[in-house]
Amino acid sequence: MYNTTAALRTAFLEFFKSKEHQIVQSSSLVPGNDPTLLFTNAGMVPFKDVFLGAEQRPYTRATSSQRCVRAGGKHNDLENVGYTARHHTFFEMLGNFSFGDYFKQDAIKYAWEFLTKVLELPEEKLLVTVYETDDEAFDIWNKEIGVPAEKIIRIGDKSADKKYESDNFWSMGDTGPCGPCSEIFYDHGEHIWGGPPGSPEEDGDRFIEIWNIVFMQFNRSANGDMAPLPKPSVDTGMGIERIAAILQGVHSNYEIDIFQNLIKSTADLLKVEDLENKSLRVIADHIRSCSFLIVDGVMPSNEGRGYVLRRIIRRAVRHGHKLGAQGIFFNKLVATLVAQMGEAYPELAQKQAVVEKMLRIEEEQFAKTLERGLALLESSLADMQGDVIPGELVFSLYDTYGFPADLTADIAREKGLSIDEAGFEAQMLEQRKKSQAASSFKADYNDQITSQQQSEFRGYDATEFDGKVTELFADGQSVESLADGQQGILVLDNTPFYAESGGQSGDKGEITVSGGSFVVADTQKLGNAIAHYGTANGSVNLGDLAKATIDTARREAIKKNHSATHLIHAALRNVLGEHVGQKGSLVEADKFRFDFSHYEGVTAEQIKEVERQVNQQIQRNLPLGTEVMAIEDAKAKGAMALFGEKYDDEVRVVSMGDYSIELCGGTHVNSTGDIGLFKIISEAGIAAGVRRIEAVTGLAAVEYVHGLENTINQAASVLKAEPSALVEKVEQSVAKVKQLEKELRQLQDKMASQQGSNLTEQVKVVNGVNTLIVNLGAADPKSLRGLVDDLKNKIGSVVMLLVASNDNKVSLIAGVTKDLIGKVKSGDLVNAAAAEVGGKGGGRPDMAQAGGSQPENIDAALAAAEAFIASKLV
Ligand code: ALA
Repeated sequence: MYNTTAALRTAFLEFFKSKEHQIVQSSSLVPGNDPTLLFTNAGMVPFKDVFLGAEQRPYTRATSSQRCVRAGGKHNDLENVGYTARHHTFFEMLGNFSFGDYFKQDAIKYAWEFLTKVLELPEEKLLVTVYETDDEAFDIWNKEIGVPAEKIIRIGDKSADKKYESDNFWSMGDTGPCGPCSEIFYDHGEHIWGGPPGSPEEDGDRFIEIWNIVFMQFNRSANGDMAPLPKPSVDTGMGIERIAAILQGVHSNYEIDIFQNLIKSTADLLKVEDLENKSLRVIADHIRSCSFLIVDGVMPSNEGRGYVLRRIIRRAVRHGHKLGAQGIFFNKLVATLVAQMGEAYPELAQKQAVVEKMLRIEEEQFAKTLERGLALLESSLADMQGDVIPGELVFSLYDTYGFPADLTADIAREKGLSIDEAGFEAQMLEQRKKSQAASSFKADYNDQITSQQQSEFRGYDATEFDGKVTELFADGQSVESLADGQQGILVLDNTPFYAESGGQSGDKGEITVSGGSFVVADTQKLGNAIAHYGTANGSVNLGDLAKATIDTARREAIKKNHSATHLIHAALRNVLGEHVGQKGSLVEADKFRFDFSHYEGVTAEQIKEVERQVNQQIQRNLPLGTEVMAIEDAKAKGAMALFGEKYDDEVRVVSMGDYSIELCGGTHVNSTGDIGLFKIISEAGIAAGVRRIEAVTGLAAVEYVHGLENTINQAASVLKAEPSALVEKVEQSVAKVKQLEKELRQLQDKMASQQGSNLTEQVKVVNGVNTLIVNLGAADPKSLRGLVDDLKNKIGSVVMLLVASNDNKVSLIAGVTKDLIGKVKSGDLVNAAAAEVGGKGGGRPDMAQAGGSQPENIDAALAAAEAFIASKLV
């Protein structure tokens, strides 16, 4: 009767409406009332404050079909999507809620009535769990509903020291409402492998949780304290996709109506024939979460929610690529989704165009680097030893090609590899440190010194200026004089020396007085004074008249570089987009660096374009204008403000023709032609979303080009080629190295296969039949089915048994190709082996799984499998 998801959704809401529940519309995926939570991950989230007693509603009973995302955060299913029949990033949760109204008894009764009377599920197919000590719930199930005691399973805490960490104690997050729960399971039948909850085989797919009834009783605080809620309440959740699968007579959620349509659209679009392909499922799942997240205002970015969205989009795009997608495809699925869900969620239909556009932009951006990143990964994997992808590689894929770590992990998993997460985190930390260093450019001076004086900066027009010594400091103290050779700080009333600020470094030079001079190594601001740091030559006294002269050659170089930072700022915004903002800069004499916000690597072409534009503006020889004006007027003129600077009411505006206009207190060239030549020497990411360019100007740029030329000439001479033939010669050499590496690898493979390290080469022929029995060690049990399929494809005809063990759990899987199931049945084989490790299993003749609990007996299990196969192949 309820053979569409839409009909089921309505039936649920109407049922609870008939029990005096208020139907409440689904809330946004971005929780409005809770900064601690990444996404709405359960139906109760919009009601959190009602449970806590902080918000009153005109009703005490509610029901909803709430859109949820479980990716990132406490409840995270992203990594499992595509590998299991039931994990999703996005799903809909049907729920009924009591805010201090009914409690355990009615909650249980309503659920049972809906399942057995409305949906007419056979009672014998259902079993339930309760929290270990919840006798009350046990008794309601047993005595009032009539569920036999053996079908009510008590589930306790995971361990004695982890109180309330249990499948039957539900918490919204690390803090917030929580309480014991009772879950209802559906038995999909003996033909599917798996055991009831609490058994070693519970990870199998036979018994599936369909409804969770939480008896909300506590509010957990950050320190773990459990405060009772104002009134005992009820929160229930039933994943609509799971229950739809049962009603539609299918086993996997991906076979229900909503998913089938999405999968078919994807398959049509990408011309894929095999509708069972896992990548189709991944894409069908991800289009739902991505579309709804965008509907709810999340935008792809490098932080927080936006980054989770970006990760999901990129994972989908990569799976499309795996299926052979040419060009953009992901956003084309939005239309199918709207057709499926637009009626229940009108906001989706309304925002279709926005969603499509956002997905297109994000996909286009990622598509640019995807191929290159994959190529890098492939070639690195070919050279890799062991089965863990090193953190540096994961990081460089992230940093340069925009591969989130979980995307690399996804690819790794397909290849039976894993990633070094700790190594990746260490690299990220390193990057963060670099970026912190970048934002605190200022040297660490003695901050106990405070100045009472005020200095006038005269250096915009003059390189030399007469002044008076108004303050002297040595060893952190105010002093009357500095002796010959003594280091200290000198303050003048008027000075042409520029004190470091706005990224421009302080001037160097000399200050002469009647009794000697003071050699200035650096200039910094000290309150309202300009402080010259340096060493006395002869004696320097307070009140001396002084002639201050800056190192003009150095200042000239700094000016060129500083003006170039303004040009590069404007050029980057032209080339990369208006989102680029300055994040810091360091302008020195020999080079400068410029940090800016941008979400992905900058391509070589973009770098060239930036260089070209800056050099064009230099050649236009734009006059440099400076003007002091009110901040409002500057803003009205469209002046860009510098990152992290505080501005007075009056500001200085520096403009270069029509190309650049910025607020800036620094010193600049007279016209852009003075910069001479501009050359970028490096570009790299230094933090999430922040990149750094290093560049040179003037003679330093000429020197840099000379250096490149020398390198080319030297390389050519090493390779005995003319510089013009260098590329060809290098290509030949690289090709030769590759060829040699290939030969080396072939040799290594040969050696490896002789040692039997390659799985397919561990096949043994027993009475003319290929057999394969392998202990995979700590392999991921979820990867076993895929591996069996792969091996069947590779070997063609085979009987195999694979064993993996994790945390005292042994996972066994048997696989037999169709041509051999007449001789050996997978179920028998897996049971023969499982018996040795204390387990039992089942499944189809061509594939069967079992779990066990005695890893110490794996060798015996392997031997049993071997004996069993031998006995069948006589
Ligand atoms: N809030 C409960 C869950 O998500 C019902 O399972």
